[in-house]
Amino acid sequence: MRLDRFICKSTELTKAEAIMQIHGGTVQVINPLNSTVKTNTILDESFQVHENNSILLHGKCLLLRPFRYILMHKPRHTLSSNADEGYPSLFNQLIVDRVSELHIAGRLDADTTGMVLITDDGRWTYNITRPSKQCKKVYRVGLAYGIADDAGDALISKFAQGIQLQGESQLTLPANLEILTEQEVLLTITQGKYHQVKRMFAAVGNRVLTLHREKIGEVQLDVELGQWRYLTTSEVQSFY
Ligand code: URA
Repeated sequence: MRLDRFICKSTELTKAEAIMQIHGGTVQVINPLNSTVKTNTILDESFQVHENNSILLHGKCLLLRPFRYILMHKPRHTLSSNADEGYPSLFNQLIVDRVSELHIAGRLDADTTGMVLITDDGRWTYNITRPSKQCKKVYRVGLAYGIADDAGDALISKFAQGIQLQGESQLTLPANLEILTEQEVLLTITQGKYHQVKRMFAAVGNRVLTLHREKIGEVQLDVELGQWRYLTTSEVQSFY
């Protein structure tokens, strides 16, 4: 992590204020790996801080604030982005400090409801969003056209084998389709391509009318529409 970012994440200073401190010579880095412990005044804000470094500001050791992990029930017609554009950002409903430091681990479309995970820990997000990590996302899907009784098994195996999406060169990764009623299914996927669920059903001649994400990994959506809560330690750990 860059030195200016480290200072922002361990104090209430803005980036500009952190840089002013660095340029003013008040920031020191201690590297205990050297045989003689070395303390250097660093004047470069892009200096990379390593795990074994201690950072001093005016001689006082700084400690990083712990990362935040939040689960929110996204309402329809809200945006999975930090700014309002046509619809309000779902961050408007999140009353916490330093909202601008947070991001969404796997966005939902404006008309999709359900579970979003919000954090400031980029490495954790990687475990949720990278297809290679195989993190399962479960969607409850309302369809425009009923699935006939005799077409269900073929559709399930088609989703399991992978769907050819328009404009993509490769099939989607295997997905699990569970048919609940003629027009309602549960779909489990491990990827997050643009409009993926809608495009998967379009590719088999259907259309998504309602889309709701109810589970990510082992964590189930359990708060009311528009509400949020912090994840428990074991929920956070479950994504590692
Ligand atoms: N797939 C979609 O098509 N939309 C979403 O919001 C999420 C997955």
